[in-house]
Amino acid sequence: MSDSGNKAAIGLIGLGTMGSALALNIADNGYKIAVTNRTVSRVSEFINDAGELSEYLIGCDDIESFVASLQTPRAIIVMVPAGKPFDDQIEALKPYLDEGDTLIDAGNTNFHDTRRRDAELAADGFRFVGMGVSGGEEGARFGPSIMVGGPEESFKPIEPIINAIAAKYEGDPCAAHLGPDGAGHFVKTVHNGIEYADMQLIAEVWGILRDGQGKSAAEVGALFDRWNEGELKSYLVEITGKALGATDEATGKPVVDIILDRAGQKGTGRWTVIEALGLGQSASTIEAAVGARSWSAAKDVREAGAEILAVQPEGGPQVSEEDLADALLAARILAYAQGFDILTAASETYGWDLDMARVAEIWRAGCIIRSALLDDISAAFRGELPKGRLILAPAFAKRLVNGSAALRRVVASAAMNGQATPAFSAALAYFDTMRTARGTTDLVQAQRDFFGAHGFERVDQEGGGFHGPWALSAEDMNVSR
Ligand SMILES: NC(=O)c1ccc[n+]([C@@H]2O[C@H](COP(=O)([O-])OP(=O)(O)OC[C@H]3O[C@@H](n4cnc5c(N)ncnc54)[C@H](OP(=O)(O)O)[C@@H]3O)[C@@H](O)[C@H]2O)c1
Repeated sequence: MSDSGNKAAIGLIGLGTMGSALALNIADNGYKIAVTNRTVSRVSEFINDAGELSEYLIGCDDIESFVASLQTPRAIIVMVPAGKPFDDQIEALKPYLDEGDTLIDAGNTNFHDTRRRDAELAADGFRFVGMGVSGGEEGARFGPSIMVGGPEESFKPIEPIINAIAAKYEGDPCAAHLGPDGAGHFVKTVHNGIEYADMQLIAEVWGILRDGQGKSAAEVGALFDRWNEGELKSYLVEITGKALGATDEATGKPVVDIILDRAGQKGTGRWTVIEALGLGQSASTIEAAVGARSWSAAKDVREAGAEILAVQPEGGPQVSEEDLADALLAARILAYAQGFDILTAASETYGWDLDMARVAEIWRAGCIIRSALLDDISAAFRGELPKGRLILAPAFAKRLVNGSAALRRVVASAAMNGQATPAFSAALAYFDTMRTARGTTDLVQAQRDFFGAHGFERVDQEGGGFHGPWALSAEDMNVSR
């Protein structure tokens, strides 16, 4: 980059939670960064709060001075809400930019938008990078996992900065250029989908222990603390232990007990499910988690249902903590596996050539789903993977077979005791389906052929288009001629 003198190596627009943290991270790594924000007062506030790092920051009150303070060709991170705010921001910037400048979308953008913008901005002579950033505020400040999509030549000039600010796993930056156009944002979306599933599974464990076994938040928190020492070691298990152990100052109660059981969602989980279905996949554990959040929103219906639909379940034995740990591990593996199946399908459909092992590697630190499993997942993808499926990799098949009995006991016990475990149930159904060589869609095919003459394949002959010995009559169709 030229004009290096007093000019900034990179710029950032949007000093919200993530933008502020990313800007400080970049400054912390010794890069001069220009910043600006829609609400101008936020700029000086940010610079004042930055302490010693302010020497690496150039605060700008308007777009013109912001663009002028950047080395050319310019690289600009835009960290504003996805969708229209991002498009509006790009339009406001364009008149001040030159051909060859790079715009970086670091928000949670739908990858279809990224693909569209990639084409539009390339036609305008600009370079574009769609970059998924995971790790929340702390990750953005001290080292996120960064999933990059876009033309490789757009990423090259900013690669040193991105590698510097990314989380490190044993020295390896958790950042990678994964493919063209929307590849980075798609991988980030699926990352979030897996995150939804893992969070829901953990919440179901909490429900079983609280409602089925009368355990307190502190007791369950301590259990998660212990689990975080073993195979379940992960960021989400770690923060679950801490969250369950926290006390509400105002009431003296566990914080979790004073939180309304109504979950929010911003879209990435839902997008994962929509894209999975569009790609002919079914990420059932992720779908269950997204659905559980939607059901949770209907608090009034659930309160009415608690009376109107009251039943006394038959009951059954409660499961052990060991079973819960084994079931959680097995279901977590199945959720990751479904996520990677979506990535495989998308990679083929969009021609991204995603390196799955590398995806697993850059999730090992910095991101929300970082866990002890990811090393093994990357090793599995680097080795022989039967049918390209993680569940069939020897290391995971063994764990699934071993954990399946516990998973089955957890789901059965919850069902008998009337506790909802949508994600565990979905995980078990997927496991059982994928180990059933001859399923029941023979009958679905017969039904389809019966009413719609859709034809079927036979087990004993090549080709398709066979029909059953049924001739449709008015009586069959329940209509009168
Ligand atoms: N929070 C997370 O943990 C997280 C993690 C990964 C990715 N993300 C993604 O990162 C992006 C930013 O999230 P955030 O949590 O940092 O949001 P945030 O705290 O709400 O900040 C939003 C920023 O965007 C600016 N902005 C809002 N609407 C704008 C518009 N129409 N035009 C120009 N600027 C506008 C705001 O400026 P004002 O100060 O003027 O309001 C603010 O600087 C989102 O895409 C989000 O999904 C968030």
